[in-house]
Amino acid sequence: MPRSSLNPVIAPSVLAGDLAHLGAESDAVIAAGADWIHFDVMDHHFVPNLTFGPPVVQALKKHLDAQRPGTPIDVHLMVKPPDALIEGFANAGVDSITFHPEASDHIDRSLRRARDAGCAAGLAFNPATPLEWLKYVLDLVDIVVIMSVNPGFAGQKFIPSMPAKIAEARGILDSWRASGGHPIRLQVDGGIKTDNIATVAEAGADTFVAGSAIFGQADYSAAIADLKQRINTPDA
Ligand code: DX5
Ligand code: ZN
Repeated sequence: MPRSSLNPVIAPSVLAGDLAHLGAESDAVIAAGADWIHFDVMDHHFVPNLTFGPPVVQALKKHLDAQRPGTPIDVHLMVKPPDALIEGFANAGVDSITFHPEASDHIDRSLRRARDAGCAAGLAFNPATPLEWLKYVLDLVDIVVIMSVNPGFAGQKFIPSMPAKIAEARGILDSWRASGGHPIRLQVDGGIKTDNIATVAEAGADTFVAGSAIFGQADYSAAIADLKQRINTPDA
């Protein structure tokens, strides 16, 4: 199976951390070897949970600029509609913004909004959402996210049919690249653990969101090192 040619990225979802200490938790995972901070935005409408808005990420950005300058913040919008918040989060200085295609009436416009505001733009696919939505917008996409749980909560169980979907997305992105397209990251989000990260890497993912697999461990460095090591060690 073809793997991604992009370097692997571990993106801890701070939703699974101690939210009374959002800044310290973010510092700790970056110090422990994580690459990006993944920030889950939920609206109690598109998904049955309610989390953070732009002022929270703005405060986190200020904190990270002081403590860990250059840390990329990846915002995952589980909100409907996304456009106003794309602008709100872009203005807060985040690096990438992904949203769900079902949540936007004008996907092309929403992707352009994120790009025009200086962010990488991405489309996130719920487990049952077909990848056809990508077909006419690949030129506007920097990240494709395959959700391996139904979005709404950290700590859910990985859906076992998702590696096949990741492989399908890998095929689309490889054909795009072979025909002269730009590199696009393939992110997997939900239920990623040490016992399945090798399988999703084998299927072609290069960007791994992990919430409870990291924040549920006492030693973040050991948890991240274990995940990283397994990316390149196929399951027996
Ligand atoms: C689910 C979120 C995920 C989640 C990851 O709606 O988008 O990012 O918090 O947490 P784990 O790794 O615990 O599934
Ligand atoms: Zn997420």
